Amino acid sequence: MPLSRAPFALELSRLAIDGGDPVVPKGFVMMSRWPRLDRSDLEAVTRQLESGLYTEMASAARVHEFEAEMAMMANTRYALAVNSGTAALHCAIAGAGVESGDEVVVPALAYIACAAAVLHHQAIPVFADVDPETYNVTAESVEAALTPRTRAIMAVHLHGLPCDVDAICAVGRRHGIPVIEDFSQAVGATYRGRMVGGLASVGAASLMSGKNLPSLGEAGVIVTNDRAIRNKAAGLKAFADAVKPDGTYELIGATMGWNYRINLLSAVMISRQLFHLENYTHLRQNSAARLNETIAAIRGFAPPVVPADREHCYHMYRFKFDPEAAGLAITIDQAHEALKRVFLAEGLYLVEFQNQPLAGHDIIQRRIGYGRGCPWHCHGRGEMTYCIEDYPGALQAIRDSLVIGMPAQAVLANPEVVDAYIAVFEKLDRNLRIFERFAADLPARPPWSTAPRMF
Ligand SMILES: Cc1ncc(COP(=O)(O)O)c(C=O)c1O
Repeated sequence: MPLSRAPFALELSRLAIDGGDPVVPKGFVMMSRWPRLDRSDLEAVTRQLESGLYTEMASAARVHEFEAEMAMMANTRYALAVNSGTAALHCAIAGAGVESGDEVVVPALAYIACAAAVLHHQAIPVFADVDPETYNVTAESVEAALTPRTRAIMAVHLHGLPCDVDAICAVGRRHGIPVIEDFSQAVGATYRGRMVGGLASVGAASLMSGKNLPSLGEAGVIVTNDRAIRNKAAGLKAFADAVKPDGTYELIGATMGWNYRINLLSAVMISRQLFHLENYTHLRQNSAARLNETIAAIRGFAPPVVPADREHCYHMYRFKFDPEAAGLAITIDQAHEALKRVFLAEGLYLVEFQNQPLAGHDIIQRRIGYGRGCPWHCHGRGEMTYCIEDYPGALQAIRDSLVIGMPAQAVLANPEVVDAYIAVFEKLDRNLRIFERFAADLPARPPWSTAPRMF
């Protein structure tokens, strides 16, 4: 919905919860648009549509072209196109040599697909806590989650901020365990000057249309310098094909295999979006800089922490609010709930992006695999339980912070939506006492007291 800037100038004083005009005209909720398509993007997709070639079988050459572009982006030797981020993680797990009953370390705060992909391979997710400042796993938390059964470590660059990959890879090397980078939320982010994705044993990314590098619907990719990992992953990708050492396929049903082939229209769209990636990353970084400046000036609010050796690409923007630091006599849970309601009354969403550590989700709590207790009870292992209190860093992150958005991945690519958020933060700054009174009447329950949800 186009929005003129006039309402922000007119009504900067009273919050909508206090009878003021909302920043977004009453009755509307402001949504963000993503992806953006220009004429040349549309023409490229239309040409592919007109060609009649939509599948990998129809044009292996187009897939190889796409894979070459992805490998170039991540600075790796190989890339493998697949049809979702979950498929990419599954292939990366298989490529890394994980087998049924093995353990894979997964961040306690991430997307549920990170744990589900491990279960799809009949392996067991073991969670590593996250740092409540960066929201990412650390070398220490990953090392603490290792057991003699660990066969892979999954490091997720949450919201677009790279993990300390070198330190995590050093742990992996010390224990002889491959590291998988999940760079679904971080395409375009850099760590020590290098693009993430190609920094560990293998990288896996979702390229679905909400991501910073968007496709036409669903898509994913893995990138690696290791030919054996690539070929093993390729075997899982398509109908159990045998992959010859040169990377070509033989249709003989040699291994376990799924159908994770990419749709060529998606591949073409991603190729086009690659041309825009740098510009859109800068746009998101500019939006984040404006939000940072606004938030840092308000008592109790804190922008995201970005260590000096990495560049955040702001797939999502998570900020903190500490009512005590703002001098307000309300609990953090009341403040969290009140912020969501204040923004919604202004026509904007604040979301949690996980109100629980992944260990709190049903699939993990009730140990739901493909039935009969597998993979948890396979291979003679004893009872295994998961408790969200074992991840204090993730709980603290969830309790202390909120993500702006709807959809949360798109806000920073829409400067006019960012203007609206800034206008509400500025109103809040002028009305902290009214906010305090509003919040004081709300129940003080932690976000994880309700059923697990993503947003
Ligand atoms: C960090 C992360 N990993 C994996 C996935 C799963 O990707 P997909 O939805 O493409 O299967 C997502 C998001 O969708 C994600 O944010």
